[in-house]
Amino acid sequence: MEINILTVFYLIGSVTFILGLKMLSNPDSARKGNLIAASGMTIAILGTIFLYKDEEGKSLHNYAWIFAGIVIGAVVGTLAAKKVKMTAMPEMVSLFNGMGGACAALISIVEFNHLVRGYETGNPAMLYDLDKTTVVIIMSGLIIGSVSFAGSIVAWGKLNGKFKDYAFKGQHIFNLLLLGLVLLSATWLVVAPPENIFHLLFYGVFSLALTYGVLFVLPIGGADMPVVISLLNSFTGVAAACGGFLYDNKLMLTGGILVGAAGTLLTILMCKAMNRSLKNVLIGSFGATPTHATAQKAAGNYKEISVSDCAVAMSYARKVMIVPGYGLAVAQAQHVCHELEKMLEEKGVEVKYAIHPVAGRMPGHMNVLLAEADVSYDKLLEMEHANDEFKSTDVVLVLGANDVVNPAAKTDPDSPIYGMPILEVEEAKMVVVNKRSMKPGYAGIENELFFRQKTSMLFGDAKSVLQQLVNEVKSL
Ligand code: TAP
Repeated sequence: MEINILTVFYLIGSVTFILGLKMLSNPDSARKGNLIAASGMTIAILGTIFLYKDEEGKSLHNYAWIFAGIVIGAVVGTLAAKKVKMTAMPEMVSLFNGMGGACAALISIVEFNHLVRGYETGNPAMLYDLDKTTVVIIMSGLIIGSVSFAGSIVAWGKLNGKFKDYAFKGQHIFNLLLLGLVLLSATWLVVAPPENIFHLLFYGVFSLALTYGVLFVLPIGGADMPVVISLLNSFTGVAAACGGFLYDNKLMLTGGILVGAAGTLLTILMCKAMNRSLKNVLIGSFGATPTHATAQKAAGNYKEISVSDCAVAMSYARKVMIVPGYGLAVAQAQHVCHELEKMLEEKGVEVKYAIHPVAGRMPGHMNVLLAEADVSYDKLLEMEHANDEFKSTDVVLVLGANDVVNPAAKTDPDSPIYGMPILEVEEAKMVVVNKRSMKPGYAGIENELFFRQKTSMLFGDAKSVLQQLVNEVKSL
């Protein structure tokens, strides 16, 4: 009877995951969707703890361990989520994703030891009798989970600047050989488990998979991290689904497949946005470090504009397009940006936002940031539409964006961002760029846009500059 109730709990959990995911696709319903999915997960966890019974009808008994883990995890998770700054969100997502991968790998280690203990105590009698499907799932969870864990930790370090891009000569070949060795060793263990080095081989695969995860992400730099992050996300989903297979747990399977599928779709979208092929991502073969020559190329003169001149230009424009970037998130200037938008609209100016798919540091970063300030969703233009509208735009105000408006992506084949579609702001009549200095953005390269005829620099922290703009526009 309890098992049936548990099945119903799992069904509720699965439905809430799907509903939650659907609601996450719109900023208006995203918060609610997150809560709904989290409630489903709570129901499933409590159901498992109190209603689960194994084949012999035994319930879980180690409640002290279980609740100690839940309390520690809940306290750490709540504090981290409350303390994290919006700009550090991508790092936290990477870290949490890595923890998911680590869980999947640990499940594989635990279940491998269960299986082998059965063998050592004579059940099953022969090492060769180990259930092959189970071993395949265990090895898949181990490899994918380990790569996801190690890769996510490196991604976390790179996003917060603790790790630098690193590559050595011939690394792509080395990475491929390493991956081949991992897969071959795992196949050996499944097909013909060697009697004496059984454990050694298993933990060897584990260590090599961790090493591959590190080496796979380390060389990827420049503007290519978004693709890797979403790919690691999908890895964690697939690794969790392996756990679902192993325990014949439908909810874990559904959750894992949803994360895996969503991560894969996001990877494809990110590849499209960055104009990269998935094959290149898989062998970690893009993201060259910018050369000195590239950085030097853009050197030249730039001109500045005062706050009042910028306010006049925008107030008398027919159409203003705002291009938000990472700097807007750093400055937490989204609210005052919305205020400027309203002030301009009161003066009859049409105001829209041009959103680049990889602006900021996580997928949908700018959408979330602007939704926080109640910017209407229909004012947000995706890159293709924005590029169509720049021609009819009088003033483009670039707020803390850099790589996503860098023309080198179109004109300089040596540039690490070459090939990435950009927001073509130069199509507009006038471009004003707000940032604090002439320093480069995430990809570490100079931006020729700042030196172009149509461009004027408006230096300063985005929040303070926007506040001054609001005051000026008000007084006109
Ligand atoms: P970036 O190219 O990183 O440029 C941000 C600019 O903001 C910097 O040049 C910085 O210049 C300026 N800035 C920083 N703080 C500021 C402040 N308080 N006020 C005003 N300006 C400030 O940003 P982007 O154009 O949004 O491009 C995103 C980059 O991150 C891409 O290369 C993308 O590939 C990468 N990335 C994206 C993701 C995802 S999924 N979105 C994930 C990982 C990496 P100053 O220092 O001179 O102010």
